[in-house]
Amino acid sequence: MLVTGASRGIGRAIAGAFAERGDRVAVHWGSSRERAERVLAELPGEGHVLVQADMADAAEVAGMVDEAAAALDGLDVLVNNAGVFTAHPPLETSYDDWQAAWSQTLAVNLVGAANATFRAVPHLVAAGGGAVVNVSSRGAFRGEPNNPAYGASKAGLNAFAQSMALALAPHGISVTCAAPGFVQTEMAREVLDGPGGDAVRAQSPFGRVARPEEVASAVLWLASPEARFSSGTVVDVNGASYLR
Ligand SMILES: NC(=O)c1ccc[n+]([C@@H]2O[C@H](COP(=O)([O-])OP(=O)(O)OC[C@H]3O[C@@H](n4cnc5c(N)ncnc54)[C@H](OP(=O)(O)O)[C@@H]3O)[C@@H](O)[C@H]2O)c1
Repeated sequence: MLVTGASRGIGRAIAGAFAERGDRVAVHWGSSRERAERVLAELPGEGHVLVQADMADAAEVAGMVDEAAAALDGLDVLVNNAGVFTAHPPLETSYDDWQAAWSQTLAVNLVGAANATFRAVPHLVAAGGGAVVNVSSRGAFRGEPNNPAYGASKAGLNAFAQSMALALAPHGISVTCAAPGFVQTEMAREVLDGPGGDAVRAQSPFGRVARPEEVASAVLWLASPEARFSSGTVVDVNGASYLR
């Protein structure tokens, strides 16, 4: 299996969950080489590999997916997890910064995932079927007032997954999403450690945000053969903080 953005955070937990179950994992990283090497070293089992690409670069993504498939002798699962969350509040952002935020966010979160999926499909078909799981977000449904491109990228990811679920089902491939609320990672650190952190934790009646492992366990199930008929679904992992 290949998981993008596995050098830290949720991707790291996803890599660990699959390796724990006995899978061989391609740990993708973008700029955090040393951290990816540490993730690789801590994975249980044998035969895991590192692969690198800027998810905003279509050619690099293509080579990265093929490299992962070659190193693992095939590919049965792709997890599109790499993502960026850059603030660009509409009333406080310059037009130039607004352009930059939209370009980068869509390039990584949406087009990067679409490109990785496109390149993974021949390998999944060759494997006789499999799964694509996208790490989406509660923000697709609840809105992201300070990060509107992020919310749009994740809503786009959900719609992409639904279209691909229809296209790939005849080949025995499911396409699904896990949609976390806030998760205890670097991406959310500024929000969770800031003055609004307690209010964010209080959004869930559990009184906390998710642990990366809780997202990983949903992804593990969504990628399993037992979940194949749940193709097209978006599973919320938000501690009942937003019910739709
Ligand atoms: N944390 C949350 O509260 C939360 C909530 C809902 C959804 N999510 C989603 O969960 C996923 C993982 O988030 P996280 O919290 O684990 O974030 P994180 O700790 O910030 O990690 C982000 C990962 O994405 C990779 N990445 C970012 N830009 C990249 C690029 N241009 N090319 C290649 N890799 C890139 C990073 O790799 P390098 O460091 O190696 O570049 C890193 O491994 C994201 O899709 C995010 O939107 C997170």
